[in-house]
Amino acid sequence: MKNTITKAVFPVAGLGTRFIPATKANPKEMLPVVDKPLIQYAAEEAEAAGVSDLVFVTGRTKRSIADHFDKAYELEAELKAAGKTELLETVQNILPPDVHCIYLRQAEARGLGHAILCAKPVVQNDAFAVLLADDLIWNENSGCIAQMAKVFEKHQCSILAVEEVPREDTSKYGIVEVEKMDGGLSRVTSIVEKPDPDKAPSNLAVVGRYILTPAIFPEIEQTGEGAGGEIQLTDAIAKLLDKEPVLAYTFEGTRYDCGSKLGYLEATVELGLKHTELGHDFATYLRGLLGV
Ligand code: UTP
Repeated sequence: MKNTITKAVFPVAGLGTRFIPATKANPKEMLPVVDKPLIQYAAEEAEAAGVSDLVFVTGRTKRSIADHFDKAYELEAELKAAGKTELLETVQNILPPDVHCIYLRQAEARGLGHAILCAKPVVQNDAFAVLLADDLIWNENSGCIAQMAKVFEKHQCSILAVEEVPREDTSKYGIVEVEKMDGGLSRVTSIVEKPDPDKAPSNLAVVGRYILTPAIFPEIEQTGEGAGGEIQLTDAIAKLLDKEPVLAYTFEGTRYDCGSKLGYLEATVELGLKHTELGHDFATYLRGLLGV
């Protein structure tokens, strides 16, 4: 096993039912926040952390994700002919040339655990990052996966990004019970998928960033269907806890749950306000709208 993180898995084969009809024929990961699709925010976060292999686990209706990271000959020719150099550079530099994109198919949406298992032939015997692009995590200086990769270099074990959530929301997340360590780190002692608020062991929720050792694969292989009839990553992590230490890391940054309509709107407003070209005019517009 390498002692750094160079591979990242992007499970993008979910059905995105909370965003129907937008996700009927288009993947939720291609929804744009201001001017970039969610998947590009996640890919850039991984690339900034030193990841060189981006492994996308896709499904039906997800072709536009591969198209987005591929060369766009016609568009490039048109932009070149029109002298639109800046836009041409944007289109050509979606990812640096030394980053490789690998696409795998999950034939049926059988759950996040199953989607990650599909990446086993590519990931093989290395620890790897997992990014769920619908959790957009904003940190201008150091992205969430870069922070976690540093923790991995020191501790060489699986790490889950966690955040406190309101008690009433525990049934939307994997929830961990932990023993505190230093520097925003804790050791996970138990994990449970989507517990009811009165049964949740804490209000510390796992969000869409993980670093996993390859020891997770045999655990997923032995995991049957869990909550919602899906093969849950949480259940496999629960079994991994008996064999290896797993850390919980409280990341620095703001998470927007773009898998939900409200979280998506919050991201759009806040990143719109931060946008270098639009921020000022958008703030003026919002003040006018709210009469403040
Ligand atoms: P979600 O729980 O958000 O499910 O999946 P979903 O289908 O995408 O969205 P909703 O809840 O129906 O609106 C968490 C992550 O796991 C991926 C999704 O693409 C998302 O990134 N996933 C989920 C898969 O890749 N395959 C699956 O079988 C299930």
